[in-house]
Amino acid sequence: MVDSGWSEAEAKALIDARRHEKGAMLPILHDLMHRFGYIDEAAIPLIASALNVSKAETVGVISFYHDFRRTPAEGPVLKICRAESCQAAGCEDLVDHLERRHGLVADSHHGRVQVETVYCLGHCAASPAAMLDGEPMARLTRESLDACLAEIAR
Ligand code: FES
Repeated sequence: MVDSGWSEAEAKALIDARRHEKGAMLPILHDLMHRFGYIDEAAIPLIASALNVSKAETVGVISFYHDFRRTPAEGPVLKICRAESCQAAGCEDLVDHLERRHGLVADSHHGRVQVETVYCLGHCAASPAAMLDGEPMARLTRESLDACLAEIAR
């Protein structure tokens, strides 16, 4: 995920590249997230107009999916999976560890690293799984999380 500032021209190009696809809304939103790290308010009328839907409908889709952020993240984003396979592999212990050892509370949207809960990243075979700024992390342990957070702090 790249967050290097909003550009209306780039957003328009991303929207135009997919506007004629069937079910274009979600791919467009993912492309904007991937490029900017969030969906800027200014993208909403662009998307609505390109797809011939209302702005309210566009906002509704963005709000429905936890993955779509409407403001830039204040730091690195660690998405930790808490769905069944990762639960069975101990993700709740890791969430607890993040809070107790590092003061990072999942879904609180503050802290030097933003920890967000997600439900299945599609990496169940590598549970417990997470993503750090879009990069997959597999078979997490307390130690690997500690090492990752130490690296971020450098
Ligand atoms: S359940 Fe965690 S990646 Fe699928």
